[in-house]
Amino acid sequence: MVIVKVPATTANIGPGYDSMGMALNLYNTFTFKRERKNVEDDNLILKSFNYFYDYFNLDLEEISIDVDENVPRSRGLGSSATCIVAGLMAANKFSGKNISKEEILKLATNIEGHPDNVAPAIYGGLITSVVNDRVYFSKDSVSDNLSFILLIPNFELSTELARQVVPKEVSIEDCVFNIARASLVSKALSKGDFNLLKGVNEDRIHEPYRRKLIEDFDEFEKLAKNNNAIINISGAGPSILITKEKNNKKINIEIDKKLQELVNWKALELLVDDFGAVEN
Ligand code: HSE
Repeated sequence: MVIVKVPATTANIGPGYDSMGMALNLYNTFTFKRERKNVEDDNLILKSFNYFYDYFNLDLEEISIDVDENVPRSRGLGSSATCIVAGLMAANKFSGKNISKEEILKLATNIEGHPDNVAPAIYGGLITSVVNDRVYFSKDSVSDNLSFILLIPNFELSTELARQVVPKEVSIEDCVFNIARASLVSKALSKGDFNLLKGVNEDRIHEPYRRKLIEDFDEFEKLAKNNNAIINISGAGPSILITKEKNNKKINIEIDKKLQELVNWKALELLVDDFGAVEN
């Protein structure tokens, strides 16, 4: 039996489209057993498990999978990444191949298409990554001056649609706008420099297009601005990431009030997970 616990992740963090992501202390826990049991073929956990066996030309094994699921699906919180990472890590253990975390990251990126959720799901912390001849990345810890409120709606948004609305081309002006901001967002998060973060956390690549798909985004934006907090779309949405100084309790009170009106949403205050996926 192999048990794999994988954190939720929030990708992009404003200007870091498809490049930055952070692990959060909310987890899916997967139990794999070597036994014949029907798992549907389109199950992403099983597909990832089988991908590993195919990749290394191994004979497939019959397994059962149970999930203690806490990461909401299709909400921009990396639930697919938890499935991919868990499937690969379990296959690594069952097969005895014992490949490195870096190789797991490569396979996970092949399956997911981009590393911004799978990298922090594997390593924890705040990760900026680039896919080249392999995945190059750097991990930073996030300052504990900061905390995060995830606003999670009871409706889904398909990642496919959220990717379709992002323009295929951007102007040089918008590229420059995002490059410096992405680099400073990552520094501000690790230093815990909230004023720097507040000054630079803006995006011109995806958020202006995606926010229109998220009912109530404007309301939450007003609320964040009036209460010294920062708002971003979490991954491809529809969840919303609110970043605040940990001792700012006013925003929590205002969000609680707002949620009495906007009943389709719930709020979870989370911290960054610095460890990533663990298996035993
Ligand atoms: N970076 C991805 C996106 C995350 O924004 O579409 C969702 O997979």
